Amino acid sequence: MEEKVFYITTPIYYPSDKLHIGHTYCTVATDAMARYKRLTGYDVMFLTGTDEHGQKIEDKAKEAGVTPKEFVDRIVTGERGILDLWKLMNISNDRFIRTTDEYHVKAIQRVFRRMYDKGDIYKGTYKGKYCKPCESFWTESQLVDGKCPDCGREVQDAEEEAYFFRASKYAGRVRDLLTGTDFLEPASRVNEMVNNFIDCEGGLQDLCVSRTSFTWGIPVDFDEKHVVYVWLDALFNYMTALGLENDAHDDLDKYWPHAVHFVGKEIVRFHSIYWPAFLMSLDLPLPRKVYGHGWLVMDGGKMSKSKGNVVDPYILAERFGVDALRFFLLRTFPFGSDGNFSNELLINTINVDLANDLGNLVSRSTAMVEKYFGGALPKTGVSEPVDEELLAMAKALRGRYEAQMERFQFQNALEEIFKLIQRANKYIDETAPWVLAKDEAKRDRLAAVLYNLLETVRICAVLLTPFMPASCDKIFDQIGAAACERTWDSAAAFGVLHDGVTVRKGEAVFPRIDAEKELAELEALEAAAKKGAAPAIELEPYAAESVDFDTFCKSDFRAVKVKACEAVKKSEKLLRFTLDDGSGADRQILSGIHKFYEPEQLVGKTLLAILNLPPRKMMGLESCGMLISAVHRENGEEKLHLVILDDAIPAGAKMC
Ligand code: MSP
Repeated sequence: MEEKVFYITTPIYYPSDKLHIGHTYCTVATDAMARYKRLTGYDVMFLTGTDEHGQKIEDKAKEAGVTPKEFVDRIVTGERGILDLWKLMNISNDRFIRTTDEYHVKAIQRVFRRMYDKGDIYKGTYKGKYCKPCESFWTESQLVDGKCPDCGREVQDAEEEAYFFRASKYAGRVRDLLTGTDFLEPASRVNEMVNNFIDCEGGLQDLCVSRTSFTWGIPVDFDEKHVVYVWLDALFNYMTALGLENDAHDDLDKYWPHAVHFVGKEIVRFHSIYWPAFLMSLDLPLPRKVYGHGWLVMDGGKMSKSKGNVVDPYILAERFGVDALRFFLLRTFPFGSDGNFSNELLINTINVDLANDLGNLVSRSTAMVEKYFGGALPKTGVSEPVDEELLAMAKALRGRYEAQMERFQFQNALEEIFKLIQRANKYIDETAPWVLAKDEAKRDRLAAVLYNLLETVRICAVLLTPFMPASCDKIFDQIGAAACERTWDSAAAFGVLHDGVTVRKGEAVFPRIDAEKELAELEALEAAAKKGAAPAIELEPYAAESVDFDTFCKSDFRAVKVKACEAVKKSEKLLRFTLDDGSGADRQILSGIHKFYEPEQLVGKTLLAILNLPPRKMMGLESCGMLISAVHRENGEEKLHLVILDDAIPAGAKMC
């Protein structure tokens, strides 16, 4: 018989700042999965935690004038910190690991030594680039446009004596794991990993696994000026939390073979390449699966603490309700792909799905049982053909839901439930209970219609429990479902609610939100936060070498019209413009603004350019002039807008 044991983990988050809605998204998804598995009878271990070492934390603590441990303590255990957030979000983790926990520290030292003794860790010199926010090492050739390929931020030079892990030795086995099994999902992420990191020029590079340039880490116990690289320290959390190389826990054998790691797509590389390679080195069994979920983005860019464009889960949960927020996150975005977060979308989902569809179904059904039967509903079993479709859908729901949940397709699982909810609302209109209620002879039929509605609500509530545990309890109470009528088994059958079930119509479980008012309030809050965060703009002071008036007048600023625009091949940044400058001949200007505009957005626009600059070659193409843009920073991120002129201005008009 299949062993019903399940182990699921979130990434352990960096406590370098407060967590945002992106972290909440992953933790809520993991929680929904853990609750689902428990519902289906599994013995579940759900682990989350914090990744507390590394240079970034050391720097942040220094800035704050406290020790790194004091710094992380405040963020992890302090008021409205990480533990508080998971409590608020009703996260049901069984364990919480902090990489500063004594047992983990000792275990990592043993692991490092084992790999060293085996010859898989050796000493060398690290020379290359380092991305501090990602705590990632890169070679020059791995950079994209000179920046970190994971997050797009600046990298810094790094050169130091370091220990290396012989990842290259395991390249073949890791490739087989990725290409020959379903270890990494979604499958679409496999090629990217194999092509970019294993079958790339030079093959899989050995990984630098120690640092000497800072001290906030786990010391290598046989060479104390080194601290263990934070990713080696962090990845093993999944096993030390179960008892690898320590006595604090003792359930490695039981849970480890059933491990599923949910991780964001930017850390799939560590989880699908280095993590298995580390385990292979130690001859340890591999986890069952790594699932790389997508990002919540805002206006097309990743939300991140260092960019400052983050959404505060506390504000949303407190304004709209924990369950509404949990539901929104998993109902709206397909787990494997990116999703664009917005307040409008959140409010709309709450109003349409929760207040309207589900909320109305519950309140109308219970209100009618109260009105027509004084609250206690007899089970009469009078059926009519109009019931058939509803009953068939309700009976099939659990199977359809299970198929989606097993593939971590939360959005699809919820879609199945909502199809039934919508069908049930239609069923109310089709059966018109208020008409049946007028005819005493149809009393049993009326009871059966209302029973079918309560049953539908019950089945939906069982399957919604992993997503909205507290609200589903309220719904069960309102429809009078007994404990045995809230189980996984009971969700596969129709007709489970007992005869005489007593409803208790309470307050609306999901009140409707006044979208306009809420959006205005949220916008005001965000604007205030932005204002607080925006640094004062520094203007260039006048100096002797500043431009004098005559020099300025020599600049030939002209209105130009974009006749054509295309991306320059092999360049991430450059756009090639063909411009009408009023002279009759086409003018070509290249501009490194592809990050901000797609070519088709600009064709036909009237722009401002300076034309009498010396021609310059870029990627083999000549650029004759420069387009003028306005540049500023918003939440730490660079923004650029071309100066776009009124179309009434003819090409060639001189600016003075
Ligand atoms: N400490 C490492 C993970 C070590 S795991 C052995 C780390 N921490 S983190 O604080 O940066 O958290 C990263 C994870 O948070 C992502 O992989 C993802 O699960 C989640 N998210 C952070 N921002 C996110 C979004 N904007 N959208 C969705 N998930 C996001 O990396």
